[in-house]
This record gives sequence, C-alpha cells and structure tokens, in this order.
Amino acid sequence: MAQQEDVFKKIVSHAKEYGFVFPSSEIYDGLSAVYDYGQNGVELKNNIKRYWWDAMTLLHENIVGIDSAIFMHPTIWKASGHVDAFNDPLIDNRDSKKRYRADVLIEDQLAKIDDKINKEVAKAAKRFGDAFDEAQFRATNGRVLEYQAKRDALHERFSQAMNDNNLEELRQIILDEEIVCPISGTKNWTEVRQFNLMFKTEMGSTADGSMTVYLRPETAQGIFVNYLNVQKTGRMRIPFGIAQIGKAFRNEIVARQFIFRMREFEQMEMQFFVRPGEELKWFSQWKEWRLKWHKALGLGDEKYRYHDHDKLAHYANAATDIEFRMPFGFKEVEGIHSRTNFDLSQHEKFSGKKIQYFDPELNESYVPYVIETSIGVDRMFLSVLCSSYEEEQLPNGETRTVLHLPAPLAPVKCAVLPLVRKDGLPEKAREIVDDLKFDFATHYEEKDAIGKRYRRQDAIGTPFCITVDHQTLEDNTVTLRERDSMQQTRVNISDLHTLIHDRVSLSSLLRKLK
Ligand code: GAP
Repeated sequence: MAQQEDVFKKIVSHAKEYGFVFPSSEIYDGLSAVYDYGQNGVELKNNIKRYWWDAMTLLHENIVGIDSAIFMHPTIWKASGHVDAFNDPLIDNRDSKKRYRADVLIEDQLAKIDDKINKEVAKAAKRFGDAFDEAQFRATNGRVLEYQAKRDALHERFSQAMNDNNLEELRQIILDEEIVCPISGTKNWTEVRQFNLMFKTEMGSTADGSMTVYLRPETAQGIFVNYLNVQKTGRMRIPFGIAQIGKAFRNEIVARQFIFRMREFEQMEMQFFVRPGEELKWFSQWKEWRLKWHKALGLGDEKYRYHDHDKLAHYANAATDIEFRMPFGFKEVEGIHSRTNFDLSQHEKFSGKKIQYFDPELNESYVPYVIETSIGVDRMFLSVLCSSYEEEQLPNGETRTVLHLPAPLAPVKCAVLPLVRKDGLPEKAREIVDDLKFDFATHYEEKDAIGKRYRRQDAIGTPFCITVDHQTLEDNTVTLRERDSMQQTRVNISDLHTLIHDRVSLSSLLRKLK
C-alpha cells in the first residue's frame, strides 16, 4: 500500500512537471481542491470528452446533446431535493479545530480493518506459497473471521445511521470506535451537524432586489428542466436520451486524492427517458454499454468492477457504480441510476407545468422514467493517467518514464524530430509537420539529443515519433518510432498519414463499441 502511495505521489508530480495538471492559483499558494489543466492536460481532457460525446450522440440515433447554463432558477434545487438534502455530516475536533466528515472518519476506520485482514492474508500467502487457498483462508482463519465480524457489525451500524440520517448515532460510533483526530490525537469531538454542499451567490444588485442562486452541483437538472424543449423541438420519441458535459460545483469538506474529489469539476451526464415499467431493462442495458465504453480503452479489464447499491435513495429503484482501481483502491468513476420519474414529477409539481409524454403506441400520457449515466471527467482523467504511468526498466539498465495513454486520447499524436539542426533536415521536418498538422496534433522538436527528445515525448504519451535524417533527403523515408515497443521502422513519408491514423483515430475506438 505504501508503495502504491509513493507511485501516486510520483504521478501527481509528473502531472505537474509535464503540463497536465497544476494546483489552482499556485503563485498565491493554491486554492484547496481546485486544479487547473495545463497544455497537455486540456488536450487529454478534451479527447476524453470527445470520446464520451461521440459515443453518446453519434452511435445512438436517439441521443442528442445540450449545453445548459450553470446558473438556474433556485426553485430547481428545491424541487430536486438539493436545498434540503444535499448535505454532508460534519464534526469538529475541539483541540485541533479541524473539521471532518463524520462518514469519512468511519469509512477510514472500516478501511483500517480491511488493511488488517489483507495483512493476515498476505502473511499467510507468503507462508504457504503456491499451496495457498485464499478463499479457504478467509473463510476459516480465526483472526480474519474476528476482524471480519467486527467490520460487518460496524458497517451495518454505520449504514443504518446514514440511512436514518441519525447524526447522534454517527457521533456515538466515532466515540465507541475511539477514533482520534489525526492532528491533535484526541477524541474531543463536537456534535455532528449537516452541511449543505451547494455554493451560493447573489444574482442582481441588492438595490433591485437580488436573488440567491446556486452554482449547480450536478449537470443533470439542466437536462430535466429542458426535457420538454428537446422532446418537442427535436420531435423525440421515447426511448430517447439527452447528454450534457459541463462544470459542477460542490463545497466538499474532505477534499483529497488530487483531482479525485474537487470543489469545481466536470461531469458528463446522460438522462435516458423510457416508458414506466421498462426502466430496469434499460438500466441493465446501460450498465453493460457503459462498462464496454470504459473497457474499449484497453486500460485493463481487471481494473473495473461494478458496485451495486444495496441501500437506495428514496427515488431510485436500482443503482450501481463503475469503480476503477486507482493507486488508492477501487473508487467510483461513474454512477448509473434508475431514477424513476422522481425528477420530472418534482419539476411538474414545483413549476406547475405539465411534463408528460404522449405515447402514440400505448395511446396514453405519462411522466417518463429515467436512467441516468453520470461520469466525472476529472476522475476519468485520473484513471487514465494512473493506469498509463510506468517507470519502465529498459534492457540497457536505464529507466524511462512513459505514459501508455490510449493513442486516441494522447494530447500529442506525433512528434517530428530532425536528427540534427542543419543540412536541410529541419526544413524537411517542417514540411512533414505542415502536412500532418491538419489531421493530427503534431509537435516539432529540434533541441537536445534524439534520445532525450524521445524520452520527453514518452513522458507525455506521444504514440509516434518521426525522425528525419540524411537518408530522408535522398529517398523520402523516415524512421517511425512507436512509443510502447520503442520499435523503429523505416517508412515512406507518403505512408505516414495512414499508419498514424489507424492507431490514433477516435473512430477506431468508437468502432469497438458496436
Ligand atoms: N447526477 C448524479 C450525480 O451527480 P454523483 O454520484 O454525485 O451523481 C456523479 O456524481 C459523478 O461525478 C461521480 O461518479 C464522480 O465521477 C463525479 N464527481 C462527483 N463529485 C465529484 C467531486 N467532488 N470531484 C470530482 N468528481 C466528482
């Protein structure tokens, strides 16, 4: 685990050193849980968004996109339940004056028990070698069973308290578990209080009478309140979907793990409107389609798992998360929810407008049911970055740091490198750039030795380097170096376009989703 933490630290500093992610407002000492994307980060992020957007809107005839405003009428957040219930339970330590999420303190306690179990398993695996049967060990070892029973009891009590919104019980769990503040080391805790996660601001001048508005905590409500507009103007027939990518804001108290939990982040959400009674069929279908979308990137099938929710929000009748194995454990990257007709019905009630669909086949009107797929762009970015990063030992004893990014997502697709800065090689290289740049993000680099230039491109995940040498001037061939294998092949300049396109185009990725 400690080793994984070290790797994660290296990934964070690599992201900064190579222009992927910077702490926000860094010259003013930063702003907690807010990050900026640099010159390479923004390209990677845009490519992830394009992959999602095209998979939704090009591959599904019945899905269209919108781009709704971040500010919305404040009653929307009353209707959606966010004003009353979008809360985190907070607790303060009186000695350190630090504030924590009560649920996170308890989740950390659960993780500590998991660690103890895993340590027992790892010790036994070492002792028994190949003969080790992990399942049997977990089911029979006395110490593991004791830890597991403790964990199950704590988990049950915690889930119950969260479900009942029982703040006193959450505090009692923290006291009973003797959880201490990591800073002061004391158990001097305050009461647990609810804290609303929405950012508020004022719209209009006070003289005119201003109105409190919120920065949206999710993009989904912008879709719900435009349901009628899109359905009518697009003559959409159920089932159909509306997709949106945009910023969301949450005043997260425990912000940690780099861009995993941010106060300003981006979501890619799609609401799929279906007939009542057909929602669970569509829920299973979207579960399958979304996992396929993730796996098509080739980051490793074993890095994904579903986490089906056994405790559901009152408006949902099925929910699952797609989790990805980050260096700090399996974590939610995407949520898929069957949200019944809760949101549209609430907006019908609060706006007084009829939000119904007339189904010509059934000859009846109803409020559609909704399947939601909701993925965080930044978490997706983090999963791509973490699984691509490698410090590779080379046969010659050197180490290279390489990002094995899926080629269609790479910020730069190819770099053109003249071997030397003279003899007409730079001019020839520029000619190649001027041809390729219309189709691919192409870099030109002439400084430093060629090996150093290759390493720089490896570090930002460029799939191809094209080296122009003296032979190029004679026969119009170049060396094409492939990032992962480092293999170099002599190819004709006229073949470059096809060779690169086959590997880096988004359409090759999208075709895997058929
Ligand atoms: N409309 C449903 C919704 O917003 P959610 O589970 O709260 O559901 C969906 O959020 C996704 O948004 C998450 O799976 C995660 O990828 C991303 N997300 C949520 N909070 C985030 C945060 N503070 N920082 C970064 N990403 C976040």
